[in-house]
Amino acid sequence: MKPQALQIIRDEHLAIAAVLFALRFCVRKIRDEGKAADFVLLRAILDYIVSYPDRWHHPKEDQYLFSAVRERTREADHLLATLQEEHRRGHPMIEDLKQQLLAFERGEPGANAAFCAAAEKYAQVEWTHMRREEDLLLPIAERVLTEEDWERIHAAFRENDNPLFGIKPKDEAERLYRTILSLAPAPIGYAK
Ligand SMILES: [Fe+2]
Ligand SMILES: [Fe+2]
Repeated sequence: MKPQALQIIRDEHLAIAAVLFALRFCVRKIRDEGKAADFVLLRAILDYIVSYPDRWHHPKEDQYLFSAVRERTREADHLLATLQEEHRRGHPMIEDLKQQLLAFERGEPGANAAFCAAAEKYAQVEWTHMRREEDLLLPIAERVLTEEDWERIHAAFRENDNPLFGIKPKDEAERLYRTILSLAPAPIGYAK
């Protein structure tokens, strides 16, 4: 039987990828079709990225999945270093994107094009990162980790939902996700 944690990680990647797709879709409408920016939607997308992948998903991978693999094998050392570096770089990139969105909203010269370029770049980097994890790291993890390792990883990812934690990031992510779907234009959003 496949470890449950694998399914959680893949599901989280799917949700993150859907939001990145929405971000790129919005950017292309603005940049290629000259459509007005929906700043409420763009802010909801950036809030989601900050509150979920950046604050919860990547740190859990670093702390539990990556460290477990590192303990069982040396074959993934180079890959893990790359993935961790990508986690580290993701945080300043999203902070930068938030600043660029504010400049765009204020109507600063060149801010529109700069935001669109940075958003495309961010989506591309994150996609490549998640693909690398799924195609390269998860198969190694499946091969080398023990049942106990997977249980610990599962417990950590499940903790994202634990009300005793004080906050429930998955609830927050879910709320933002619904906001994004309700605001996004067809074919991404709900039929209006
Ligand atoms: Fe990651
Ligand atoms: Fe990931």
